Amino acid sequence: MEPFPWSKDYGIGHQVIDAQHKELFRLANATHAMLGRSAPDEIERHISQLVNYTRTHFRAEESLLKANLYEGLAEHRRAHEALSSKVKELWSRRTVVTPEDLLQTLSEWIVGHIKGMDQQLKGKV
Ligand SMILES: [Fe+2]
Ligand SMILES: [Fe+2]
Repeated sequence: MEPFPWSKDYGIGHQVIDAQHKELFRLANATHAMLGRSAPDEIERHISQLVNYTRTHFRAEESLLKANLYEGLAEHRRAHEALSSKVKELWSRRTVVTPEDLLQTLSEWIVGHIKGMDQQLKGKV
């Protein structure tokens, strides 16, 4: 069983955003599956992909919210910024935390945001 199973309930009804959210779940699950089976630098490369894709996604989502004149844009952007700085901080400590902890925490934050705050975007974009 995957640690972060996707459910169609998480969809917000926007094709591009939903595809990106699914991809974030997929990356988190795929990287988890490598733990204990792949070389540490290979795992780190995949975690780095997850971090980079998160940044790409945040930018895309914010552009869309802006284009849709979403009233909660400033608040949503602040949440992305807070999450990005936590991710950056955690990533900078990657030599002192285990890949398991790093990935688990990162994935929980990212997935948590999609299952939480992003759900407010349903029907708004
Ligand atoms: Fe999102
Ligand atoms: Fe978001």
